[in-house]
Amino acid sequence: TYLGLDLGTSSLKALLIAEDQAVIASVSVPLTVERPHFGWSEQNPQSWIVACEVALQQLSTEQPEAFGDIAGIGLSGHMHGATVLGEDGHVLRPCILWNDTRSHAEAKALDDAESRAITGNIVFPGFTAPKLLWMQKNEPELFAETRHVLLPKDYLRLWLTGDAVSEMSDAAGTSWLDTGKRDWSDRMLERTGLSRDHMPSLVEGTQASGEVRPILAEKFGLKPGVVVAGGGGDNAASACGVGVAQPGTGFLSLGTSGVLFTATAGYAPVPETALHTFCHAIPGLWHQMGVTLSAAGCMDWLSKLLKEEPGTLTGALGETIAEPGRLLFLPYLSGERTPHNDADIRGVLAGIESDTSREAMTRAVLEGVAYSMRDCLDAAGDTPKPERLIAVGAGSRSAYWLQLMATVLETEIALPAAGDFGAAFGAARLGITAATGADPKSVITLPPVARSFAPVTEKIEAYRDGHRRYKALYPAIKQAMA
Ligand code: XUL
Repeated sequence: TYLGLDLGTSSLKALLIAEDQAVIASVSVPLTVERPHFGWSEQNPQSWIVACEVALQQLSTEQPEAFGDIAGIGLSGHMHGATVLGEDGHVLRPCILWNDTRSHAEAKALDDAESRAITGNIVFPGFTAPKLLWMQKNEPELFAETRHVLLPKDYLRLWLTGDAVSEMSDAAGTSWLDTGKRDWSDRMLERTGLSRDHMPSLVEGTQASGEVRPILAEKFGLKPGVVVAGGGGDNAASACGVGVAQPGTGFLSLGTSGVLFTATAGYAPVPETALHTFCHAIPGLWHQMGVTLSAAGCMDWLSKLLKEEPGTLTGALGETIAEPGRLLFLPYLSGERTPHNDADIRGVLAGIESDTSREAMTRAVLEGVAYSMRDCLDAAGDTPKPERLIAVGAGSRSAYWLQLMATVLETEIALPAAGDFGAAFGAARLGITAATGADPKSVITLPPVARSFAPVTEKIEAYRDGHRRYKALYPAIKQAMA
């Protein structure tokens, strides 16, 4: 059996799978986020270890036999967090998380032609390197004491194996990685007052990074020498969960935020469109990722406002998509990443009439998010578009939305059959490759498809026009709200 551990922002999930990848059991342990000041978002790394101990204890009690049979463990986690350690490995301050924006000035200072050429990305305030610059300026004593900087899931690995190791997909989100070379960049480290000595060693996500420490194996009833795989940042691990392991395949995640993820054979960054270009968790592959900060989150907002469940609102539209409505919605409820990289912009519902109905508002919200995902697709420039996208996340429960997405993205959308194909499952799959040496292609396969949505050909042109009108609104709103 194999175990996937996904350190999420709001909970740690442990998922146990059999040799044939059937899910045996899973547990989730909640985590909290501290927001001591405006724009700050922190977590105590000790809470990850406590949560992991609870999860391991519970699984080993519920499934002693399967648990004792574990041969490989894979790790996944929220990206970009800065876990800073002092001389003897003790944690110097709470981890500064991916959605913490305090280091926006430092990010701006680091983001230039050189950093973009090396890392392939804009230096976003949420990324790791600007956080260390912030510490250098605001917590100079702690910065001087810093010996190691680890990403969140890699701190969990340090506890689990005793080894300071990271892997390419998560490392690519630090602004310290030469993303094309899959190696730390001495120059980017130097620009934040650090060196290679502060960094963990690097493996590929599919490779072994170490073994579970004997003392923990004994405590939880694991057999000796359980291999821990490199694993992946949560998006790369999710891609492994839904089988996006071949160049040109991709997934569309409609969670609180929206992600359009494509696996690519080569490294072809386009930082100017705020697209992320990171290493995949699989050797020789990269991925591009457009992020829209509010996707299903927009339906949650509308649902609260209209006091009706999101499923009821979308259900009322039936399954056949209408022509694009006159009402236009910009989904920037908490700013936007791709393509505008604009933390200050906010959403708008434009074109309201005296008889605007809740159906019209629901359609406008679904269309606005679909246009924003189209922006993510267009941001990839010359990179070949995926032929098909696997849909995941709460929003994928709406057939209307998926048909609309297929038409707006002009790409077939496949909805997997019910099952758990998330980041913890992807991590468990990486545990298989690391423990057995199996070819990732044979392990990281596509899920069975329940339903496919093809673009509605006769409506494509109307939605292209809708997307043009949508795009014209951003500069106007930007100016009006400046
Ligand atoms: C990726 C990103 C998030 C975090 C948290 O760039 O910021 O997906 O990994 O889940």
